[in-house]
Amino acid sequence: MNNQELFERAKRRIPGGVNSPVRSFQAVGGTPYFVDRAQGAYVWDVEGTRYIDYVQSYGASILGHAHPKVVSDLKQVVGLGTTFGAPTLREVLLAEEVCGRVEGCDWLRLVSSGTEAAMSAIRLARGATGRARVVKFDGCYHGHADFLLAGAGSAVASLGIATSAGVTPGAVRDTLVVPFNEVPDLDESVACVIVEPIGANYSLRVPRAGFLEGLRAECDRVGAVLIFDEVITGFRFRNGSCSPLVGGVIADLYLFGKIIGGGLAMGAFGGRGDLMDYLAPLGDVYQAGTLSGNPLATQAGLSVLGELSEAVYEEISKKARDLATGLREILGEKAVVNFGTLVGFELANYPEFFHEMLAGGVAFAPGPYEVAFPSLAHSDDDLDATLNVLGAQ
Ligand SMILES: Cc1ncc(COP(=O)(O)O)c(C=O)c1O
Repeated sequence: MNNQELFERAKRRIPGGVNSPVRSFQAVGGTPYFVDRAQGAYVWDVEGTRYIDYVQSYGASILGHAHPKVVSDLKQVVGLGTTFGAPTLREVLLAEEVCGRVEGCDWLRLVSSGTEAAMSAIRLARGATGRARVVKFDGCYHGHADFLLAGAGSAVASLGIATSAGVTPGAVRDTLVVPFNEVPDLDESVACVIVEPIGANYSLRVPRAGFLEGLRAECDRVGAVLIFDEVITGFRFRNGSCSPLVGGVIADLYLFGKIIGGGLAMGAFGGRGDLMDYLAPLGDVYQAGTLSGNPLATQAGLSVLGELSEAVYEEISKKARDLATGLREILGEKAVVNFGTLVGFELANYPEFFHEMLAGGVAFAPGPYEVAFPSLAHSDDDLDATLNVLGAQ
């Protein structure tokens, strides 16, 4: 079955043929490729076409696909049972790993997605402060909980959805959307401020000097909880929070996902002990999950974190820098943004760029606001091949 046939078949049972809207190609036009398998920097579609893959599951696969160590570790544990509904050693190990690498994150609760992490952390902030209001920033994406679907980035932005249908005015009544990189004046109705410390869902946005420090000071002034959503940025630029790279502000709560699940369903939120104490069973903020801390996901996360070192980040940063430099030479200085290991785009005609690359065997995300994720597996030859599609010499 080819991509087109499979897409037609998918559309008969799955709304829009996809299980997450950005995959539909609606923002760029055309038919999505259906992935058959992946290895390292590459994915192969069901027609046998190979793509150099910069999607990397939107950042979940920092080592590249099917990394041998992750695969062999997973093979060892899969036969031991895949979910128990009782605590396991690997949940403890993963919590220790994450907390040990993130300053200000002393306790951690594992969940199954970034959406769940954001939703739960905000419930916790509201429960702890007894306040309702949530301040978020335009273009930041924190998953698809109702009250966070206002002014969101990622696919919400590329599909032109300001606030999703089905989200009641009541659900977003307490959500205040303010411009990124501007410190808002808060008052004592604010439970929390949630921000991607480096914005990675509306192209790539580096905080201006003083922005995160200003948020910290405003939160402290009014007693609001500062939440860093590091679902993309956590363990992406360095071995822990990205905060030390952009001023070193310590948040009250952190959200993680993607990398810490090693490509399996995983999210986490954590932070200050006195806040996390409000969570059930210690406190009265309820939060739960059948698959939370899943044995396979925790193993995959541990296997990936075990491979990450300063040298790995240096290597991926160099690849991202080389990719950005090469792309800039062709597309123009302002069309490409690079910070550390990530590359973003500010192109007038992203769909044209996207399809030219795809036709040349290179997969970037099918949405103009998504960033590119070079992985450890991308070789210099892959980077050259990527640039050659655009006619680089
Ligand atoms: C910063 C950020 N927060 C939260 C989420 C939601 O995570 P998930 O898709 O796992 O629910 C995402 C997803 O891309 C994200 O980029």
